[in-house]
Amino acid sequence: MPKWCTSKVIERKVWTDGLFTITIDGSAVEPFEPGQFLHLAAFPGGKPDDDDQIDSARVNRPYSVASPHGDRIEFFIVRVDDGELTPHLWRLEPGDEVEVSQKAAGRFTLGKTPDAKDIWLIATGTGLAPYVAMARDPEIWNRFENVIVVHGVRHANDLAYTDELLAIEQQRAGRFKLVQALTREEKDGTLKGRIPSLVESGEIEAAAGCEITAASSVVLLCGNPAMLDSMEEVLGKRDMMRHRSKKPGQIVLERYW
Ligand SMILES: Cc1cc2nc3c(=O)[nH]c(=O)nc-3n(C[C@H](O)[C@H](O)[C@H](O)COP(=O)(O)OP(=O)(O)OC[C@H]3O[C@@H](n4cnc5c(N)ncnc54)[C@H](O)[C@@H]3O)c2cc1C
Ligand SMILES: NC(=O)c1ccc[n+]([C@@H]2O[C@H](COP(=O)([O-])OP(=O)(O)OC[C@H]3O[C@@H](n4cnc5c(N)ncnc54)[C@H](OP(=O)(O)O)[C@@H]3O)[C@@H](O)[C@H]2O)c1
Repeated sequence: MPKWCTSKVIERKVWTDGLFTITIDGSAVEPFEPGQFLHLAAFPGGKPDDDDQIDSARVNRPYSVASPHGDRIEFFIVRVDDGELTPHLWRLEPGDEVEVSQKAAGRFTLGKTPDAKDIWLIATGTGLAPYVAMARDPEIWNRFENVIVVHGVRHANDLAYTDELLAIEQQRAGRFKLVQALTREEKDGTLKGRIPSLVESGEIEAAAGCEITAASSVVLLCGNPAMLDSMEEVLGKRDMMRHRSKKPGQIVLERYW
């Protein structure tokens, strides 16, 4: 059971209905690495007056932090309509209280990622969150020559953080590339299809101007578990395998469910 602290919501940004970023006061949270997750918790049925009932009434879930450690901590969340916690998180407004774990966890970090020339940060949906944190942290630029973010979503409205990522593309000209893919509509400047098929067809590498190879690349995968499984299969055909401390590889993953 995590050690909980009570924090306040500072800001709420809605990207599109049900897809949002909440920023909370992070002053009580211990230092963590970009890519790690914290638990958020709430009492969707109301906080019990009786202390003995608090633990059983609390609903908590892990969330990747979308910002490096600091006084403001950001989470990028999608409302799962029949979910237990997210409909409640969706209704939080600035000034509201939310419980957060004091200590972060997780091994989906640059520290646990093997060296390579290029790092591919591949996500579906809110799986983009840890990459926003990594892209805001200077360490990534000391470790890798090229950084490529691939974001796959259903609709163009779901393409959160685009302005920030395009600003990085300008600042780090030639070293950073954002590739976006939509599955349920077409839009200029984006690819159409699911990420694994777009890797197999070569469209993602053509858009990035860079190849995914076992010799040059490390690939981080985050989000929908079915995408992770398909990508492991696709990359396996390129002799790329999951990175383990005792058996080094090129793939590091974070499974959201
Ligand atoms: C390490 C880790 C980090 C995570 N980070 C994030 C994050 O940064 N942002 C985020 O929105 N979620 C994240 N999740 C998922 C999150 O923990 C919850 O599972 C999710 O918010 C649903 O909670 P719920 O109580 O509303 O739904 P539940 O009642 O728990 O229903 C869960 C179901 O919702 C679906 N689902 C869960 N998460 C997602 C998602 N992100 N996108 C699409 N469908 C989903 C799946 O079908 C899953 O079986 C993360 C999960 C893990 C394990
Ligand atoms: N705007 C929003 O994002 C929004 C708002 C409110 C509520 N919700 C709810 O939130 C939940 C999650 O929606 P989400 O769109 O964020 O997440 P998602 O269902 O994981 O979809 C994100 C992207 O992953 C793709 N994908 C799914 N399976 C894949 C696979 N096997 N391989 C590769 N790619 C795959 C999807 O393609 P496909 O389109 O082909 O499935 C989509 O482009 C749903 O319950 C949704 O109703 C979403």
